[in-house]
Amino acid sequence: MSTVKFYKEEHQVPLEMHKVRIVQKLFLLPIEERLKKMNEAGNNTFLLQNKDIYMDMLTDSGVNAMSDNQQAAMFQADDSYAGSETCNRLKKAIQDVMGISGFLPAHQGRACENILAETFCKPGDVVPMNFHFTTTKAHITRLGAEVVELVAQKGLQADSMDPFKGDFDIPRLKQFIQENKERISFLRIETGTNLIGGQPISMANMLEVAQICKDNGIISVMDASLLQDNLYFIKTREAAYKDKSTKEIMHELCAAMDITYFSARKLGFARGGCICSNNADLLLKMKEYVPLFEGFLTYGGMEVRSMEAIAVGLYETLDMEYISQGPLFIEHMIKELDAYGVPVVKPAGGLGVHLDASKFFPDMPHNQYPAGALAAAMYIAGGIRGMERGTISEQREPDGTERYAELELLRLAVPRRVFTLSQIEYVADRVKWVWDNRHLVGGLRFVEEPSVLRFFFGRLEPVNDWQEKLVAQFRSDFGDSL
Ligand code: F0G
Repeated sequence: MSTVKFYKEEHQVPLEMHKVRIVQKLFLLPIEERLKKMNEAGNNTFLLQNKDIYMDMLTDSGVNAMSDNQQAAMFQADDSYAGSETCNRLKKAIQDVMGISGFLPAHQGRACENILAETFCKPGDVVPMNFHFTTTKAHITRLGAEVVELVAQKGLQADSMDPFKGDFDIPRLKQFIQENKERISFLRIETGTNLIGGQPISMANMLEVAQICKDNGIISVMDASLLQDNLYFIKTREAAYKDKSTKEIMHELCAAMDITYFSARKLGFARGGCICSNNADLLLKMKEYVPLFEGFLTYGGMEVRSMEAIAVGLYETLDMEYISQGPLFIEHMIKELDAYGVPVVKPAGGLGVHLDASKFFPDMPHNQYPAGALAAAMYIAGGIRGMERGTISEQREPDGTERYAELELLRLAVPRRVFTLSQIEYVADRVKWVWDNRHLVGGLRFVEEPSVLRFFFGRLEPVNDWQEKLVAQFRSDFGDSL
């Protein structure tokens, strides 16, 4: 995106500094078909088929558009089991872009988390973090350790306008360390904090937390999966970094951490995962798990062509014209929805637009899953696939009781360099329609509930005939329009 000023200021919109050269045909089914598909998918958007979706806003993971340079690089992949030149090129890119000298490859972000947990966590341990991510927590708890969230209060207030809602609560962190130091496996800093609405964490806060770790002999681990958006926010929201280059910011940040890992399905516009560190001893501890779980040390389960794409994509994460696109599209949509009165997480963060389902349906019981109900309603209303980020995404307590999410959100992810602004406008329009008809939307209940990561493949049904009523209202408002 550029800072080009429009002649007519009232028409100012984010302006792309790239063009589309490969396209994929999309289909929008009639609403009656969408209702049918939603129910066949157990009211779980993960179980929908891509061919039945118009706007796939499930995730930004592995669905970002590649650049011409990434595609070109894939042709030179050195496809050997061991010692491939591709691995050396990726290593060099990590060194150049992040300033980190060593890395271990893994097939995706959660594979890095598996290796980190296997290496450092044992029963009774704790892993403090600003906020958990689903797969991170599952790996840590699987090994009998516990996750403790220390995000500042503002992070849990959907309407707080603080620019860095992913920040740690430093006094709580210090106290926690004082009381639990011996049990801490490592501390995890999540950039672009996913489950609280893609909200960034400030450079000042991250550097302070890393220093606290150093002072206490605790390993600091940064999850950089969403660092691209966070980098944009540091540069645009944090005065001290306004005049620093994205590369300078990246280097300063990574130098402060003991370990930096990322899902390259997000960072780097490709697919894969990397655990990076300047500390050879730490890498050595984790190393043996790579051939055990992932693949040989020079590919770690990644397709070699993807490694080439990551190497080029990492350089692109330093380019403000690329990395501003997601945040600016998100901001555009949030401004429009907010002006209409739709409850959204503010200020605009990275990753996507987050609708506050608890405010859509203040009277819906928590155990009828407001965010899940909103996800089903959005697909029915517009062929738009979002992701429930509320109670369904939580794990039940060990005794089987529901653990209610602190935020009931529907995430409409904005994959990078993928959608056009008119498509974003369409989504905003259909969100407004659902908001105006929210009184028609009812809850969901489980009919099949897996015990781990239930949001991926659990099946639910509507508690009554609210979905048919929503379809009837759509027909009355839109006639025979799709
Ligand atoms: N960390 C964060 C912050 C993530 O957002 C994700 C994935 C992972 C780790 C795991 O990476 O998918 O490559 O195994 N987030 C995806 C999402 C799934 O849709 O938000 P992965």
